[in-house]
Amino acid sequence: MQNIVTHDRLVLPRLGLGTWPMLGEECARAVQSALELGYRHIDTAAAYENEAAVGRALEQSPVSREDVHLTTKVWWDQLQPAAMRASLERSLDALRSDRVDLFMIHWPGRDWDLPRSIETLVALREEGKARHIGVANFPLALLRRTVEELGAPLSAIQVEYHVLLGQRQLLDYARQHGMALIAYSPLARNRIAEVAEIRDIAARHRAQPAQIALKWLLDQPAVAAIPKAGSVANQRINLGALEVMLDDEDRALIDALPKNQRLVSPDFAPAWDACDE
Ligand SMILES: NC(=O)c1ccc[n+]([C@@H]2O[C@H](COP(=O)([O-])OP(=O)(O)OC[C@H]3O[C@@H](n4cnc5c(N)ncnc54)[C@H](OP(=O)(O)O)[C@@H]3O)[C@@H](O)[C@H]2O)c1
Repeated sequence: MQNIVTHDRLVLPRLGLGTWPMLGEECARAVQSALELGYRHIDTAAAYENEAAVGRALEQSPVSREDVHLTTKVWWDQLQPAAMRASLERSLDALRSDRVDLFMIHWPGRDWDLPRSIETLVALREEGKARHIGVANFPLALLRRTVEELGAPLSAIQVEYHVLLGQRQLLDYARQHGMALIAYSPLARNRIAEVAEIRDIAARHRAQPAQIALKWLLDQPAVAAIPKAGSVANQRINLGALEVMLDDEDRALIDALPKNQRLVSPDFAPAWDACDE
């Protein structure tokens, strides 16, 4: 498995397993099979309500906890210092871990004290409860403020990114600052197979559409992807993306697809940057 190495030495396997919206046994089974297949990056969050299942699967797996990158996140209404600390403590309990590898703010808060939240995020890292810290769903201006004004040593940003949604500005910024960009919904929530160009490229490579969509992301410097796959079959297919070799013609076809199809935008989402690819 290829890794990304960030400015502060977060070693992040490029392909991870997304666990939302799996719960309980379904989630534990999916994490177990992913670890058996060779996945070493698991993405969860307090809001997914599946951390206990993830923790159980990690504990029961013969794979050493030290060999698995684990991300969790704190929900946007828990960003006051005491609430953020309590959220991470609950996550660690559920995950049966002393620390997580990456702890992220899941969404920007509303009417929040950004400096105090970031101060707390950084303190949790300094205390060793999170090896690395990051943010998700931050538009560029907010990310810049967090890094440049508040000096937060972020290792990663997690945002929606796939063949139908561009993230050029955030990606440039992440690269300039040695951060990883973790692509969520990398299969455009399973809409990939509806895209004729992706189907054609897949047919040419005797590959699956999902593999083409994932490899397009994974070929980009600093980009990791966390497809959710409940079945062993789809987990195996997604891992197989690493073997696919896209050429310039494939990339040109994918680059020419519309890049404005944002699928995840709940009512508490920030004002997004205009799509930029
Ligand atoms: N930070 C955030 O705000 C945020 C927001 C959304 C998601 N996320 C994270 O990102 C992860 C992935 O995003 P997502 O779940 O929204 O979308 P996604 O990974 O783009 O798509 C998941 C869907 O694709 C299907 N699928 C997986 N592999 C496939 C394959 N090889 N062929 C055909 N279908 C396949 C899955 O079905 P099966 O399960 O049946 O395989 C599921 O229906 C989440 O699980 C979560 O961890 C984070």
